[in-house]
Amino acid sequence: MPLEDEQESTRQTILVTQALPYANGDIHLGHLVEAVQADIYVRFHKLKGNKAIFVCADDTHGTPIELSARNKGITPEELIKDAWQKHVDDYAAFDIEFDNYYSTNSEENRRYSEYIFERLQQNNLIVEREVSQYYCEHDKRFLPDRFVKGTCPKCGAGEQYGDVCELCGSTYEPTDMKNPRCSICGNPPVLKKSTHFFVKLDQCADFLKEFVGSGNVLQEDMRNFVNSWIDEGLKEWCISRDGPYFGFKIPGTEDKYFYVWLDAPVGYIASTDKWCRDHGEQTDDFWSAHSDSRIVHFIGKDIVYFHALFWPVMLKNAELKLPNKIYVHGFLTVEGEKMSKSRGTFILARDFAAKMKHPLATEYLRFYYGAKLTSSAGDIDLNIEEFCSRANTTLVNNIGNLHNRTFIFCERYFDGRIPDAQWDEDLASLVAQTGAEIEAHLEAVEYKEAIEKIHVLGNTGNKYYQDNKPWELVKSDKQRAAQVMVTCANLVRSLAVFLKPVTPGVTAVFEKQLDQRLGWNDHHFSLRDVAFAPTEKLAKPIDRSEFDLLYMSGKSAASALEIPLNDSGVTFDDFKNIDLRVAIVKQAEKVKKSNKLLKLQVAIGPQSRQIIAGIAQHYKPEEIIGKQIIVVANLKPAKLMGELSQGMLLAAQDGNSLCILGLDKQVTPGSKVS
Ligand code: MSP
Ligand code: ZN
Repeated sequence: MPLEDEQESTRQTILVTQALPYANGDIHLGHLVEAVQADIYVRFHKLKGNKAIFVCADDTHGTPIELSARNKGITPEELIKDAWQKHVDDYAAFDIEFDNYYSTNSEENRRYSEYIFERLQQNNLIVEREVSQYYCEHDKRFLPDRFVKGTCPKCGAGEQYGDVCELCGSTYEPTDMKNPRCSICGNPPVLKKSTHFFVKLDQCADFLKEFVGSGNVLQEDMRNFVNSWIDEGLKEWCISRDGPYFGFKIPGTEDKYFYVWLDAPVGYIASTDKWCRDHGEQTDDFWSAHSDSRIVHFIGKDIVYFHALFWPVMLKNAELKLPNKIYVHGFLTVEGEKMSKSRGTFILARDFAAKMKHPLATEYLRFYYGAKLTSSAGDIDLNIEEFCSRANTTLVNNIGNLHNRTFIFCERYFDGRIPDAQWDEDLASLVAQTGAEIEAHLEAVEYKEAIEKIHVLGNTGNKYYQDNKPWELVKSDKQRAAQVMVTCANLVRSLAVFLKPVTPGVTAVFEKQLDQRLGWNDHHFSLRDVAFAPTEKLAKPIDRSEFDLLYMSGKSAASALEIPLNDSGVTFDDFKNIDLRVAIVKQAEKVKKSNKLLKLQVAIGPQSRQIIAGIAQHYKPEEIIGKQIIVVANLKPAKLMGELSQGMLLAAQDGNSLCILGLDKQVTPGSKVS
């Protein structure tokens, strides 16, 4: 068989997904662990000539998104549109190359979600049950677990969510909690009945055992985990929610919606469907039960339950293709600890890309993650010292150096050409052999191993250069010097190929120099007697001071310990221009359709003023009536949610809590504050 046909017949089709980030949050460095892991995989397969398609989408439905839009005074559609653009830009800054980045709020997704639901119904796997659930009379809504707060029934810790205690780790029903309150308005909820749809997961235990046990869908430790969940007995899964909810209405119901976790994974199919339509391809070629393409999911360890239990049941019953592989990764910690806003280590992708001045900082992050990632679900730590030393050691001082010294040498002594000479056969076969190993490691998502091998090969190249002393040979035996250069140039190209999935930007600099787009097979030695463009450094050293700005910017205003005091400060006259007065709150009520705003009537001397204040989540109207407060009395009037505001009250923010400024004695309203 001619080689090309053979390649054609062994060409794999692979659909790759990463978990769909929630639309109500920004992309942070934790999300990027997964994105980089999946992107390396996709780029590797594309490099080999396989048909790999990388799809993703924003996860746009659910209560938090609906509430967050409401708080911002915009529609959920506006909120998710804005988030989509931000997410697309953030991933692009790190060279994450999706074939399609879609939204779960799409017609394709509605269609597939309804179809899967219907199939589950036809297979008698859906049951309707009446349940009692907390309901907030004030907000007129049922409260999902996370929207009930109260005291942990086990350890007594206050301010815990309705599903799990963050202090003692025990899980419970919201109705077990003491002193339950609505987390939106703070009022105690009531119990109310509602009918919901449940998937009878317990009836799928045999199928799931077989799915989890078959092949290598999950890494071994994850497989054991999931098997133990099945053995413990699976509970019915509630897949409906009452309105108000941002999501897809369940056909045939008045006001029930699909729970966000039903339609979220369906987003993988919907995104594929859209891509297929845009590219004249068939969705069935990827998703029909009998398709011979591979489906590979990358997810974090917190969402295994959904992907290894619920999702296969949905797919199986809709006669769709089951995942071939679910790679589960661990969580990112920063400097050994959970990412934290107050420590300044909750770093957004956008801030990293903007605040790190080094032009290759985003490439180096890809490299760093690659160098740490294995196929296991262990956590990975971002350590600045190590970040810099890895980039500098491997990319700058090892591979970058070999590239630079080789090509500068060829510029000087061989007229800017890779000379026409025979390469070292031992090195050529070492590269071929190591290449096969690196290929296997990348294929198995053992990137750490692959990068270690690449590093060792770079060292071998530098040693070969050093041992052969081309700077002496060029004077005594130019042909021998030419052989050394041909060998080193080919080796540099091999390294650029191996690195291409991990640091496509670094490889691109070299591709530009050679004027060649590299494929996987180009790691085999074949370059001789070719011209190249002037040498640019592939990588430049990075210093840890680059991170100072980034870590500082992550800190919240509340923890900004260093308050600058210098010549750019305000003058006393500036301060005098602000007219601060004592006022008394006469009336207070909530602003309609807002969870944040209170409408206050305050007395400042003889006149009364209306002030709209963003304090509703911290003070009840009745708590604040009669209080002495401090207001900025000469602020330009403004409208907030359609209400006129004629001033501003002063308050101190401490993390999530807020405290209004007052006075420790009674004073006449209208008194000046200075
Ligand atoms: N929307 C769901 C996924 C639906 S998939 C059908 C979700 N979104 S998420 O934004 O919270 O997380 C998206 C992915 O990022 C998940 O796989 C999650 O594990 C991962 N990570 C979120 N924080 C992370 C770290 N700190 N570290 C590593 N991965 C993290 O879950
Ligand atoms: Zn409420």
